[in-house]
Amino acid sequence: MKAVILVGGQGTRLRPLTCATPKPMLPLVNIPFLEHTFKLLKNYGVEDIILSAGYLPDVFESYFGNGERHGLNIVYVKEDKPLGTAGAIKNVERYLDDSSFVVFNGDILTDLNIEQLLEYHKSKKALATLMLTSVEDPTSYGLVPIDGTGKVTYFLEKPSWDEVTTDLVNAGIYILEPEVLNFIPKAENYSFERGVFPEMIEKGERVSGFPSNAYWLDIGTPQNYLKAHHDILGRRIKFDFKGMQTKLGVWVGDNCKISSKANIFGPVVMGENCQVEPNATIFGYTTIGNDCIIGPGVTISGSVLFNDCKINRSSVIKDSILDKGVELGVKVHVEETAVLGEKIKIGSENLLKRGIKIWPKTKIGKNIIKF
Ligand code: GTP
Repeated sequence: MKAVILVGGQGTRLRPLTCATPKPMLPLVNIPFLEHTFKLLKNYGVEDIILSAGYLPDVFESYFGNGERHGLNIVYVKEDKPLGTAGAIKNVERYLDDSSFVVFNGDILTDLNIEQLLEYHKSKKALATLMLTSVEDPTSYGLVPIDGTGKVTYFLEKPSWDEVTTDLVNAGIYILEPEVLNFIPKAENYSFERGVFPEMIEKGERVSGFPSNAYWLDIGTPQNYLKAHHDILGRRIKFDFKGMQTKLGVWVGDNCKISSKANIFGPVVMGENCQVEPNATIFGYTTIGNDCIIGPGVTISGSVLFNDCKINRSSVIKDSILDKGVELGVKVHVEETAVLGEKIKIGSENLLKRGIKIWPKTKIGKNIIKF
């Protein structure tokens, strides 16, 4: 079976992290997110991958190449303008054959059993089968009610609470038969949720829903991006950590220098060549990239630091995300889902909180922001 992965979106909700890196290439516990999806597909024997890209397409190709290093065959199809979820599939038609194929939104973290999904699809003799997942608040997703036979009865994008009749939503993973391509116009921006699936249902075609208890998370917001890290470190989804487990729940990469007076409480993952100075404390659910320097007396918890971050004395980072090459001065506080873009320099004694987002390469002087 072939897979098409949709990676063409701009990832606006994850800006500034996505200013120079497309969302599926952001690190997830120090490896590009998409690599996780590739591993899952390969586990189920899916090795032919079609990447439907548009936004910063070269970032994918320069990392994965033709896929050989990962035991995959990857082809890249680049869109000049965004074609939407279904338009993107029509655009890769020439790479598909006459058998069923699987489609993944490129921002879904899951451990779905793809074999089970395919078997269900075949048993229902469906033209399209959607993975459905239950969420606490369905109002920001596409609601997908099914009848007793598993047939989807209708679609409702972003329902209001009085329209919510089920907690099952579209998980952004589908098995499709090639005939579905006939429902998609060529070279037009077209969506599965608003266009293809509702039309198929109206015409009486079989669209099935597969309710799944598998782990599922859309990593597309800062909160969910952090949650993905917390869930992986908390072992809610299987993940092969890089580095050596130096004590229970603490994985450290090669060439790290950790002071004997520093404290690390797992679960923590640290990349290679990092330095942790005396009296620094790293609490659980934290991921640190390669080549980071954590200064004396610094406290970090629940956060994600990309590569090359330098954190000066007595700063505090809590539940926040720091992109590559961020430098913090002395006694800076970064808390409450703050997101700092690439190569930002923050002078001493600033206070960055409440979901503040700061654009790449910004320089902020000493004691200016108390947000
Ligand atoms: P936001 O801008 O934050 O909403 O993120 P996004 O651009 O990624 O949009 P969204 O989360 O709705 O997209 C879901 C998935 O579909 C992501 O993996 C996107 O990369 C992908 N996607 C969205 N629109 C397109 C498109 O027009 N073409 C292609 N090829 N992929 C798309």
